[in-house]
Amino acid sequence: TDLAIGIHDLSFSTTSLVLGHDELSRHNGTDIAKYHKGIGQRAMSVPTADEDIVTMAAAAAAPIVQRHTADRIRTLVLATETSIDQSKAAGIYVHSLLGLPPQVRVVEVKQACYGATAGLQFATALVHRDPAQQVLVIASDVSRYDLDSPGEATQGAAAAALLVSADPALIEIDRPSGLFTSDIMDFWRPNYRSTALVNGKESVTAYLEAVEGAWRDYNAQGGLPLEEFRAFCYHQPYTRMAFKAHRRLLEACGVQPDDAAVESAIAATTGYNETVGNSYTASMYLALAALLDSGSELTGQSLGLFSYGSGSVAEFLAGRLRPGYREHLRGDAHREAVSKRRAIDYGTYRELHERTLPTDGGWHDLPHQTQGPFRLAGLRDHQRIYETA
Ligand code: CAA
Repeated sequence: TDLAIGIHDLSFSTTSLVLGHDELSRHNGTDIAKYHKGIGQRAMSVPTADEDIVTMAAAAAAPIVQRHTADRIRTLVLATETSIDQSKAAGIYVHSLLGLPPQVRVVEVKQACYGATAGLQFATALVHRDPAQQVLVIASDVSRYDLDSPGEATQGAAAAALLVSADPALIEIDRPSGLFTSDIMDFWRPNYRSTALVNGKESVTAYLEAVEGAWRDYNAQGGLPLEEFRAFCYHQPYTRMAFKAHRRLLEACGVQPDDAAVESAIAATTGYNETVGNSYTASMYLALAALLDSGSELTGQSLGLFSYGSGSVAEFLAGRLRPGYREHLRGDAHREAVSKRRAIDYGTYRELHERTLPTDGGWHDLPHQTQGPFRLAGLRDHQRIYETA
């Protein structure tokens, strides 16, 4: 019989600050209903000056390393599209902050918001090769668009950490999966820019085509029929996108969906993302966390996971909930991570958005603002200095 391999533990973190869409709409004149209903967003996480993808990633993974024996972790994969260096993997700072042993390989992977799902698949292959090993897969991103652009309301930030192992406590990742790649310029960020460029409407169309493409491949590979799935977690650049995606999936299956049914199918997956905003690589895993933390009993049920990264690569994969999974969840910690954020006003948000890190190679200390366990203390000789807060 096949060895079960999948997600043994799941934890996420976000930033210390939050900007409400009500505050944004008061200043830019947008009807709040466009945010709350049109895109399905209520707030977005904003990093302090001393938070970045490394501090969020370490904060997401720390509880996992505390709960399990870290000496089985032989690989750390960090997926991001907010990379801080062209050469060194951000995961090495995380490895250091977490006090992991030297006997760990660390790499960074990138393919827009899809990266962490590639990391998850690579991890299952490594565990298959040696079931005694575990792999820590971390997704960490800060979503940034230009001020006053249409993308602005879909910013956010978070990190999700997954421990991948044999005989997993939470979710077995099944085979096959469905893939869909298409060379398209729907969303990208050239190396010289700190904000993404996007063809908004085209990106939505590309995402929906990828839903259909990945689902068709999943079928062609001999995947489960639609009726076998109890729930669906979609990549959520904004939560309304999950609604559009699920409607498209049903249409691809020849089902004429009614809005209420689509709404209720995805309702349990949007709770974190609607207040965290787009966290790119982490987004689908926050949707999964929301579903697991929602309290429904899903033991033995199949979930559909749809991961999309602009540019574009998409994958539809199926997971099955393991007996007893509810005893291993982190709902209280997740809800606290979201609720303890400090609300900022529009002026503070604009200031933080316009702030850039100095590039002169000098010594710069950063103000201690984070409420999290790790911080970016400063810059020295073109190096980032991290510390336990
Ligand atoms: N009340 C209720 N609803 C309203 C409204 C109001 N007063 N005003 C507008 N709306 C609705 C619109 O009807 C529209 O609904 P539909 O999508 O169902 O048509 C929705 O609100 C959005 O309105 P617009 O299309 O006018 O909004 P926009 O021009 O501001 O653009 C966006 C929206 C394209 C998503 C933009 O926010 C954007 O570019 N975001 C970044 C890109 C993105 O997230 N793309 C998603 C797919 S790509 C991906 O998934 C990868 C990734 O993470 C980036």
